[in-house]
Amino acid sequence: QKGERTRLVEAHKVAADWYQEQLETPEAEIGRTFLAERGFDAEAAKHFGVGYAPVGWEHLVRYLRGKGFSDKEILLGGLASQGQRGGLIDRFRGRLVWPIRDTTGEVIGFGARRLREDDNGPKYLNTPETPIYKKSNVLYGLDLAKKEIAKSGRAVVVEGYTDVMACHLAGVTSAVATCGTSFGEDHIKIIRRLLMDTSQYRGETVFTFDGDAAGQKAALRAFEDDQKFAARTSIAITPGGMDPCELRLTKGDDAVRELIENPVPLFEFALRSAVERHRVDTAEGRAAALEEASKIITKIKDRSIQHEYAVQLAGLLGILDEQFVVRRISQLARWQ
Ligand code: CTP
Ligand code: MN
Ligand code: MN
Ligand code: MN
Ligand code: MN
Repeated sequence: QKGERTRLVEAHKVAADWYQEQLETPEAEIGRTFLAERGFDAEAAKHFGVGYAPVGWEHLVRYLRGKGFSDKEILLGGLASQGQRGGLIDRFRGRLVWPIRDTTGEVIGFGARRLREDDNGPKYLNTPETPIYKKSNVLYGLDLAKKEIAKSGRAVVVEGYTDVMACHLAGVTSAVATCGTSFGEDHIKIIRRLLMDTSQYRGETVFTFDGDAAGQKAALRAFEDDQKFAARTSIAITPGGMDPCELRLTKGDDAVRELIENPVPLFEFALRSAVERHRVDTAEGRAAALEEASKIITKIKDRSIQHEYAVQLAGLLGILDEQFVVRRISQLARWQ
């Protein structure tokens, strides 16, 4: 008898193929239009295995049963949920579906986007935690990106499925995204392992964010989790709050590549956002910003880099006496 994992992976393969076939049906016109409006043609959709989950209650459930999967397996894999009256209900209905693969390329889950105005479910719906899918250690696109990450010594982390697609199509083939969760410790481990494998160790990670509060918070959290990782992390801030998908659509492939080539070091980004959180046109605001940003700088181990940022902070706050900032930072450092 086959192991549970093998069975669930097989069910996902069958489901992914079926979803992909459904994208060709007349009903899926709305999905094809969505893709086209995002700048993705049929070939791009195929490259990423994008599919369509039809409206209805048990299309996939019936298909999987026909292929020999038990209700227990279908439920365990998160492909359906238990309905009110006992029957199984397809988890994804009337949505565009992205297969989420593990490093070896095996489908272990799905991310699915709402397409219709009258759908009052969430914009994105993902596979729940299952024996083969743990969102904290999944990176969408990793199967396609791992080679380039190891080769270039650089990983690019974006926010969504469409952003991964846009980056890859623009030539940034080291792009991955978290799936319905923020970037955390496990994601850092995965990326660090890939970056360590490189001979020409640069070990740089570039995050892109659309500039909204959620994105900034995520960046700063990743920074708190791991100092060494943070020192090799930079942030690419998209113009006008666009995400990479929108950027590619409005400004083209070159703009996406340029964005990734010109990131701001995470520490600098953190300083800037600490300063932006305060009213630096008042003495009190400047003092508060100085305290907050100084604490960030004390976390930098390298003394000369620490000094660089102290000078930078003085500049950001318009403090002419740089030595004052430098002294404040050493004071704070001593108390830690
Ligand atoms: N996300 C999610 N659940 C939501 C909203 C977002 O899981 N209700 C995740 C998805 O993985 C999504 C990512 O967060 O791709 C980024 O969110 P957002 O910027 O809102 O999504 P986009 O991919 O830009 O969405 P859109 O299709 O509208 O461009
Ligand atoms: Mn966002
Ligand atoms: Mn978007
Ligand atoms: Mn977005
Ligand atoms: Mn504060």
